[in-house]
Amino acid sequence: MPLGFAIIGIGNIAPIHATAIQNTPDAQLVAVCTRNEARGRAFVEKFGGTYIADYHAVLARDDVDVVAICTPHDLHAPMTIDAARAGKHILIEKPMARNVAECDAMIQAAERAGVTLGVIAQMRFDPLIPNLQSLISNSLGKIIWVSANVLWYRTDEYYRSGAWRGTREHEGGGVLINQAIHLVDLMLYLTGMPTHVTAQTRTLNHQIEVEDAVLAILEYADNRLGLIQATVSAYPDSPERLDVIGTRGSAIYHRGEARLEWHIAEPRDDGELRGAASSGAAAPMAISAAGHIAQFHDFVAAIREHRAPLVDGHEGRKSVAVVEAVYRSAACHQRVEIGD
Ligand SMILES: NC(=O)c1ccc[n+]([C@@H]2O[C@H](COP(=O)([O-])OP(=O)(O)OC[C@H]3O[C@@H](n4cnc5c(N)ncnc54)[C@H](O)[C@@H]3O)[C@@H](O)[C@H]2O)c1
Repeated sequence: MPLGFAIIGIGNIAPIHATAIQNTPDAQLVAVCTRNEARGRAFVEKFGGTYIADYHAVLARDDVDVVAICTPHDLHAPMTIDAARAGKHILIEKPMARNVAECDAMIQAAERAGVTLGVIAQMRFDPLIPNLQSLISNSLGKIIWVSANVLWYRTDEYYRSGAWRGTREHEGGGVLINQAIHLVDLMLYLTGMPTHVTAQTRTLNHQIEVEDAVLAILEYADNRLGLIQATVSAYPDSPERLDVIGTRGSAIYHRGEARLEWHIAEPRDDGELRGAASSGAAAPMAISAAGHIAQFHDFVAAIREHRAPLVDGHEGRKSVAVVEAVYRSAACHQRVEIGD
């Protein structure tokens, strides 16, 4: 029997989840949950499953093994905890939650219930990433600098498209926790956790209460530096990129162009690899389902093999810990420590 999946929250990202389920041999969509009945029924028409308005009713069903949670950020923790208590495995959209305390409660609930918790971080599953990992491990020398650049554009209309968007209570922050978190997660995955951050946030060109711009200087235990530079006020969008610089050369992952470029000084090596582009720069949903499909495959295999998925709760929590420290630093105008 394939694992029965329910998708909770039928908005922008839900079709990508349904496509990922369709493309995962051991998975089947059995339930679709959203409070908007017309939207829920149209989704069922297209992707299958049964429409259910209340997520508690989803959690009560025996044919649901896994819930894929695609709701606003403030609902990630309570829905995950309820799902764990009901004995369901959980694949939660990014960010894992609004803050570290919520992440910890989610991890604890999943561990207590003995269910598998995964956090969507589809950029980790880009086929170019193993090449970047190999450059970092074998060619760049000692890493001395890493920077994440997300210079995107979101309209005021985007922020008006959902009552939760642009609000501290529901979104938990702005460009950093919503858009830039993808590259922040990748940066931490590839090059480790920083120890301290000094940051500034601004709301430069939107009528929202959260930041639409952030600059954060990261410090690492080995004396290296890092930078997060992100805004959604940069018309007309630039493809996002991650630069990793070592003592012998640099690698630039042009995520937005699906291109990896490297330059090594000694012995001289300049190269480039291209993959399939899947950037959310121009529009939030201009992403392909490929990363999600690969992550769903890993998640289902993890459940079947009784192992942790590649991005479990502990991994998902890391980017939230950095985000939280950035917000703390910006609020107090001080350099702050990034907690465990
Ligand atoms: N991985 C990615 O590339 C990516 C891209 C876009 C969004 N996301 C993430 O996906 C999540 C959802 O974002 P979105 O853009 O699809 O949001 P959205 O506003 O388009 O959709 C959210 C949906 O949740 C539903 N919902 C709200 N409360 C509910 C409840 N109590 N029960 C059931 N349904 C409820 C809403 O009706 C809505 O349909 C967020 O965490 C976001 O950050 C990830």
